[in-house]
Amino acid sequence: MNINIRALAAKCTYAVIDQGRSLADELPKQQDRLEGKDKGLLQEICYGVLRYLPELENDVRGLMKKPLTGKQRVFHFLILVGVYQIKYTRIPDHAAVSETVAATNQLKNKHLKGLINGVLRNFQRNAESANNEQTNKKPLADAIKYNHPGWFIKKIQAAYPEHWQTILLANQEKPPMWLRVNQQHHQIDEYKKLLDDAQIEYSYIEPLSGAIALSNAVDVNKLPGFQEGWVSIQDGAAQQAARLLDAQEGDVVLDCCAAPGGKTCHILEFTPNLNSVTAIDIEESRLVRVKENLQRLNLNADVITGDAAKPETWWNNQLFDRILLDAPCSGTGVIRRHPDIKWLRKASDIDNLKVLQQQILKNIWSLLKPGGTLLYATCSILPEENSEQIRDFIAKQEDAQLISLQEDDTNIGWQLLPHPKMQNNPSMDGFYYAKLRKQEQQIK
Ligand SMILES: C[S@@+](CC[C@H](N)C(=O)[O-])C[C@H]1O[C@@H](n2cnc3c(N)ncnc32)[C@H](O)[C@@H]1O
Repeated sequence: MNINIRALAAKCTYAVIDQGRSLADELPKQQDRLEGKDKGLLQEICYGVLRYLPELENDVRGLMKKPLTGKQRVFHFLILVGVYQIKYTRIPDHAAVSETVAATNQLKNKHLKGLINGVLRNFQRNAESANNEQTNKKPLADAIKYNHPGWFIKKIQAAYPEHWQTILLANQEKPPMWLRVNQQHHQIDEYKKLLDDAQIEYSYIEPLSGAIALSNAVDVNKLPGFQEGWVSIQDGAAQQAARLLDAQEGDVVLDCCAAPGGKTCHILEFTPNLNSVTAIDIEESRLVRVKENLQRLNLNADVITGDAAKPETWWNNQLFDRILLDAPCSGTGVIRRHPDIKWLRKASDIDNLKVLQQQILKNIWSLLKPGGTLLYATCSILPEENSEQIRDFIAKQEDAQLISLQEDDTNIGWQLLPHPKMQNNPSMDGFYYAKLRKQEQQIK
């Protein structure tokens, strides 16, 4: 039997929304059942439904006499899958509808065929007549108009009163694929030439880090020297970490919360001849990826499973010259890459994360040499995890001194915000960096 992609998309989105599972766990399981381009189509549909969830829910409200509940909930998601295809993909409507209706066979409920067909046809009809009518429609609530949860919109409005709409719109975009060139092997210009030879188009080189944004995503195996470790995939914002950490030859370096190891590897590429790099993460399973990345890039680090909030359980008493603390965070800067974050995160998670970040920061600080530096990083755009966290830390920690990361720096740290794509300047992820120096002597 042919595997129906729409059935798999309904299962994935149901698992995320109704069962609270992560898309990063669910999608690969279903993709493994497909070949080639079908994997991409499944991804596109799942991402799309999660990006536009409130709007799609609003579209189907009123099209059914009774909502689908209990064991039939997966068919509710199948309807959203159908509506998403009609609204946002180039798949011809008749094919989108017939494939979606056919998914009922695979989902083992042929009785619902008529209902799914009827709802999708009704949606099509309503959409066509709405296009033809010049009626004054009721304005949509912000949660539907911007496709984000209300609590999150409020937080972003409060933090960025002038930019909140831009940020929410940027979160709805498909992010570019960014390359990190291993400058141990090639300078940026040399690698650009290799991309030209391979006819892989790039749109932008980020000036501070040399990160290269591709015009279109490609299979990593088509990138010149990927298997040989000449290049890695990493967003332009994450590529700022190694430069800002600025480890020097002979330094003893700690990378806290290191998995999957993108920044660990970049630190090692950026400064050869470090004394050592220790990469710790609480999740043993995620450290497998760190080891794979180190191996592909032919780099070495001490990889340890450990809780950054409890260094006494894994630390060997050697102080560090440089520490990167890429703290566990809300991930609200990377929503365009992980649209499930919008629905899996709850407002109450932010308070718990703030406490965890505070604990890790305080306990890791004692592992830093006097005169050493700690770079605090998150992929969050919420001030409470970022500038407010660092403001509170330096107020309590007398030997912590904030180092400016930009000229005319009046803010605490550097907050990068996602913006919608502008001509050939693609947006980087939302990210936060703050650099702290440990003073040699405590100020009395
Ligand atoms: C943002 S990710 C790190 C990304 C990584 N630095 C990179 O560049 O590839 C945060 C990591 O923190 C880890 N983590 C969460 N709580 C932790 C804790 N208490 N101690 C150590 N690691 C923790 C998670 O397992 C996750 O891998």
